[in-house]
Amino acid sequence: MAASWLSKAVFYEIYPQSFFDTNADGVGDLPGVTEKLDYVKSLGCNALWLNPCFDSPFKDAGYDVRDYKKVAPRYGTNDDMKALFAAAHKKGIRVLLDLVPGHTSEQHPWFRESGKAEENEFSHRYIWTDNAFARGDGMPFIGGEMPRNGTYIINFFKSQPALNYGYRDIHEPWQKPIDDPACLATREAMKDIMRFWLDMGCDGFRVDMADSLVKNDGNEKLATMEVWKDIAGAIHAEYPEAALVSEWNNPGQALSCGFDMDFYLDWRGNGYSVMFRDYDIPKFGEKIGKNNSYFSLGSDRDVSGFLKDFLPRYEAGKDKGLWCLISGNHDTVRVAPGLDDRERRLAFAFLYTMPGAPFLYYGDEIGMPYRWVPTKEGGYQRTGSRTPMQWDRSENMGFSAADPERLYLPVGPLEGAPTVADQEKDPGSFLNFVREIIALRQSNDDLGNYSPFRVYSAEEGSRLFAYKRGGMLVAVNPSAEELVLELDGDYEILYAIGDSRTENGRLLLGRQSFAVLKPRV
Ligand code: GLC
Ligand code: CA
Repeated sequence: MAASWLSKAVFYEIYPQSFFDTNADGVGDLPGVTEKLDYVKSLGCNALWLNPCFDSPFKDAGYDVRDYKKVAPRYGTNDDMKALFAAAHKKGIRVLLDLVPGHTSEQHPWFRESGKAEENEFSHRYIWTDNAFARGDGMPFIGGEMPRNGTYIINFFKSQPALNYGYRDIHEPWQKPIDDPACLATREAMKDIMRFWLDMGCDGFRVDMADSLVKNDGNEKLATMEVWKDIAGAIHAEYPEAALVSEWNNPGQALSCGFDMDFYLDWRGNGYSVMFRDYDIPKFGEKIGKNNSYFSLGSDRDVSGFLKDFLPRYEAGKDKGLWCLISGNHDTVRVAPGLDDRERRLAFAFLYTMPGAPFLYYGDEIGMPYRWVPTKEGGYQRTGSRTPMQWDRSENMGFSAADPERLYLPVGPLEGAPTVADQEKDPGSFLNFVREIIALRQSNDDLGNYSPFRVYSAEEGSRLFAYKRGGMLVAVNPSAEELVLELDGDYEILYAIGDSRTENGRLLLGRQSFAVLKPRV
């Protein structure tokens, strides 16, 4: 049984370095998150996902952990984390931390030990070949860095050596089976880290690259699933209210091995991206090209590409847990400015009426832009989605009282910039729309996280998309034309964007409109 709070969970993702700086050093911090909990709550969000905030050399923004049990000094202390958990819980907000189980920083003491020439407790905590000139059996590897006579496998950047959970398909003497004592020790080390934070009050984890643990594991990921059954099984047994969400993008697999939730990720051309951002990521300084996504007014897209990708995987996971849609994340290009205000309202109305626990990326609720800024801490093109939260029109847009030169990332020009303060004052703002649509979801169980989803109308070539959530009917028309939907019963309109009306058993959906209908009683 998954944590009971997940049925109502609506998440807010915070990139801690860019959210709110309380000590004027130019970097967001944990007390800053604590200070803004009322804001998070005002959105209707009742759970947080914090990107990694652990001690790290930050060669990949903290996804290169040097000490799993220590808050990075720039974010505060472990006591600040404890205080954040306590303050959040008082307000009914849960907190997920980011667990990076697949790799550490090359500066992690385990790795320093493991690279020594003399055999020791950590010699097999990472994947080493048996010869300094050996290759990685298809995996990227590094040699010549450490006294040990071997090369080591990396999981992502050069700074991220892969932890050793073993191999399924073994064809080299240095590849260990997943039940080798060294690989079992890696699992135990991860459980120990999870318990450490859960005991302090954390409510669970977003799990980075969760499908990457066992190597040579094929597409079925059978051995990686076995490892997760063990880790997640132990954690769930000890902490029944803890929640785990995987970066996996395969709910059939992830939700069968102990994850409560899995993410629908944004990959160029996949179902998710053809809904929101169907364009090439612009190069430095370039403008975003034509967005041919479903929600773009000028696009000719129907939802067939989305459904072809979404439906089979939704079906494979729907009885096991939640497959979660995101507004964006720290790895994706932001939705704005690829979609304008009206297009984004339709996109978010869709997002918040779909199954799964929805995730909102900080700043997307005000339409924060994707900006061209030089790469920072391994961000590269992702850096433009990681800029400081735009709170108001004071110095540094209210993010920090530091000298602008010292900011983690620069804030953009004030002119035309969306801010929380401005949008708070405007009842018709995007921010207030987001609050409204989240409230609509939270006050109608049919629109809830576990409530069933079924396609109602998705004709090929048509811009109209309608689906059932429980007994409710949701319909979207992102086009410039009025479109007509035959109804299967007597409905009334509960919520609408744009012009729509029911007439003689039909729903007339005006240009760029959205409607939620409920059966008339
Ligand atoms: C995940 C994270 C990403 C990070 C990578 C390596 O994809 O979301 O930000 O760079 O894993 O840990
Ligand atoms: Ca700070």
